[in-house]
Amino acid sequence: MIEIKNLCKTYHLKSGDVPAIQNVNLSIHEGDIYGIIGYSGAGKSSLIRCINLLEKPDKGEIIVDGTTLVSTISKNGEEKVSIIPNRALRKTRKNIGMIFQHFNLLDRLTVYENIAYPLRYSGYDKKEIHNRVIELLSLVGLSDKINVYPSSLSGGQKQRVAIARAIASHPKVLLSDEATSALDPDATESILHLLKDLNQKLGLTIVMITHEMSVIKSICSKVAVMEDGKVVEEGDVYSIFSNPKTEVTKRFVATTSALHKVDQLLNSSILLGNDQKGKLVKLIYQKTSVKDALISEVSRKYHVDVSIVLATVEILQDAPLGGMIAWFQGNEKDIQSALTFFSDSDVKVEVIEHGRVD
Ligand SMILES: Nc1ncnc2c1ncn2[C@@H]1O[C@H](COP(=O)(O)OP(=O)(O)OP(=O)(O)O)[C@@H](O)[C@H]1O
Ligand SMILES: [Mg+2]
Repeated sequence: MIEIKNLCKTYHLKSGDVPAIQNVNLSIHEGDIYGIIGYSGAGKSSLIRCINLLEKPDKGEIIVDGTTLVSTISKNGEEKVSIIPNRALRKTRKNIGMIFQHFNLLDRLTVYENIAYPLRYSGYDKKEIHNRVIELLSLVGLSDKINVYPSSLSGGQKQRVAIARAIASHPKVLLSDEATSALDPDATESILHLLKDLNQKLGLTIVMITHEMSVIKSICSKVAVMEDGKVVEEGDVYSIFSNPKTEVTKRFVATTSALHKVDQLLNSSILLGNDQKGKLVKLIYQKTSVKDALISEVSRKYHVDVSIVLATVEILQDAPLGGMIAWFQGNEKDIQSALTFFSDSDVKVEVIEHGRVD
């Protein structure tokens, strides 16, 4: 649905050049809820604003739903960026809705008029606009607020109006730039729920920019992590949570993962000076291996005692991800066989500390 290739964007300021996007490649499929996470200044907004050309890139390629918005041609050794002409761009923009952190509603217009506004420029007649607004208000659960002004709505309700306006002309793509960042936890959850619902009901492809990993965890299927204008890690949300590779991704995952408790315990001094014998082991269980009674099987098979210090499990994308810290006791060879058995059963094994082995 969205292809981004070798995208670059530098802002030229008096104080110097700011390379906001540096050679970014992304492939977002139809029906994805695709998260883009990064700290402030990472280049997230610049990237998302390039997708609907609110920002003009310097180089690269952007294709949205089969339409090439940006391309780069090499001529006589020089690279020249080519942007889709204005008239075609206006048409494409109808296919791309956008929502923002501060809602961007028109305060002097009622809820009805705010939603009707973009439809007036889309060739709809009065009756069609009326019917569509009624339909959209019901879709976002705000039918009773049709004639009120934005100032009398809560933040969550304002964002619902903004969502209705953004999807009014049936776009296939919705770009969301920190749409829940100004909301309290309850409103955040209900907006995320609405977005997921629209994704499923309408097949809407959503690109979600956020600096909160909990947002990614709750509705995204894929995620790209940005740092200094680059995508430093990318993949499906489950793999990123179960096996984050870069430091920045590990920090984001740690903010919301139950598995973080495992690392917190390992980093604390609680386990030091423990007089346990054997090996202290960290186990990460993925998908299928969570369900199996591997611990009891290992104990039986290899005659090792497993004493669990901490165990936790969380659900990500409808699949469990578990973590455990446990002491393995028995003879060295048996412990080794037990650990190999875990590795072979799709469990990630890490020996933390070698204790005294009998
Ligand atoms: N219009 C602009 N003119 C000049 N520099 C800009 C402009 N917009 C962004 N920048 C700079 O480009 C870099 C990336 O900014 P961007 O807004 O894309 O980051 P972000 O990841 O969205 O950050 P935040 O989480 O704070 O919204 C920053 O260094 C920023 O200062
Ligand atoms: Mg931003």
